[in-house]
Amino acid sequence: MPPIGIHDLSVATTHYALDLRELAAHTGVDVDKYRLGLGQETMSVPAIDEDIVTMAATAARPIIDRHGADRIRTVLVATESGVDQAKAAGLYLHPLIGLPATARVVELKQACYSGAAGLQFAAALCAREPDQAVLVIATDIARYDLDTPAEPTQGAAAAAILVTADPAIAELEPVSGIFSADVTDFWRPNYRSTAVVDGKLSITAYLAAAASAFTDYRRRGGRGFDDFAAVCYHQPFTQMAYKAHRHLLEGRGRAPATAALDSVLAATTHYNRVIGNSYTASLYLALASLLDHTPDLTDRPIALLSYGSGAVAEFFSATPAPGYHQHLRTQAHHDALAQRKPLTYDHYRTLHRTQTPTDGAHHTLPEDTNAPFRLAAITSHKRIYKTRQPNELRSRLSHFSQTRGVRPGCDGSGGGFGGSACGGMR
Ligand code: COA
Repeated sequence: MPPIGIHDLSVATTHYALDLRELAAHTGVDVDKYRLGLGQETMSVPAIDEDIVTMAATAARPIIDRHGADRIRTVLVATESGVDQAKAAGLYLHPLIGLPATARVVELKQACYSGAAGLQFAAALCAREPDQAVLVIATDIARYDLDTPAEPTQGAAAAAILVTADPAIAELEPVSGIFSADVTDFWRPNYRSTAVVDGKLSITAYLAAAASAFTDYRRRGGRGFDDFAAVCYHQPFTQMAYKAHRHLLEGRGRAPATAALDSVLAATTHYNRVIGNSYTASLYLALASLLDHTPDLTDRPIALLSYGSGAVAEFFSATPAPGYHQHLRTQAHHDALAQRKPLTYDHYRTLHRTQTPTDGAHHTLPEDTNAPFRLAAITSHKRIYKTRQPNELRSRLSHFSQTRGVRPGCDGSGGGFGGSACGGMR
């Protein structure tokens, strides 16, 4: 059987970012709690006309542009902030990025974990039919109630991964360790737009699940920690990676120094530190960060630990392929971060408070994002997405760079639909 794994990896995030110093100035919390205690600096916040579909399309389109869509036989969208209870988000993506009619499309849900399930399903499909490619997209908006301890751990991003045989970026190794149990540490009932979380329980549940998944991985013949050049953890906040790695090592009688933790973790945290939690996408942002910020990892195994509250954890590994550097999207990832627009606290709260209309009437959404895809309207309960043409996108970005930081009418005083260009929705 040929090696199977990650042939391409592309990350996208939102139009806006909230600096946690701005949040701290209003909550009265010492900003060091956010920056040092949680390991977070800013968090991505979606514009009024962005959602998990627009982020997914923005992440996936460069992959289609590079490789075409003909070989894609399956599209798996992993998300816990889906836009519909019945229709898969991947079907909204279909016309936006030109997916073939001969690809099966399905949505996967299990809190922050389902992207790892997507990768494993994709690897199995490629093993059965090595000519096919599977597009796995992890896309989420992490959203908690305002004025709660979870508020600084919000964020949003999408990671699109093309899985194939003979992958250009990294081979997924077949051994994996799994742990599943019924735990109520984080959940979102159908009637809520924000998650409910028992924060302290979610941390202990994560640590326990990670340890059990690693034990299962070892029992099944997996590698020891010293074999890994780096370890990518699910990062609801980046200090969680440090907590988890320390926990796993201490469980094996080792007491790691901070420098030793940094050597396998620091490079995995750059994107999550400034994007915030992105639920399913977070682990793959850690992988992208590691690959984009490490000189050479060729043939050096990397561990990945996925955790999704509820709870499922999986410990698996990937080994970068010779020449993988030529296939990375480092500059595009840095551009996506640099192009985000800083939010004021008031504007952030306005975006947070605005809800998706539920009345079935026609709602045209104001143009807010500069992304190539936007949610343009909701009409008769249908979501209408639009693709921006390259010339429209260029002129918008050039206008944006001239007026960066100044958007008349967007001072946070507006909100809702119909009247203001500054409302927000999910
Ligand atoms: N300077 C530096 N560090 C500080 C600090 C300061 N002024 N004030 C607090 N801290 C540290 C704390 O000591 C703590 O570090 P520790 O975890 O190493 O003990 C850390 O900052 C967080 O402080 P804490 O009081 O524990 O935070 P909290 O109870 O307000 O909330 C979460 C933290 C993560 C529980 C909360 O943000 C949350 O519920 N998030 C969503 C759920 C989540 O992300 N779960 C993770 C697993 S999935």
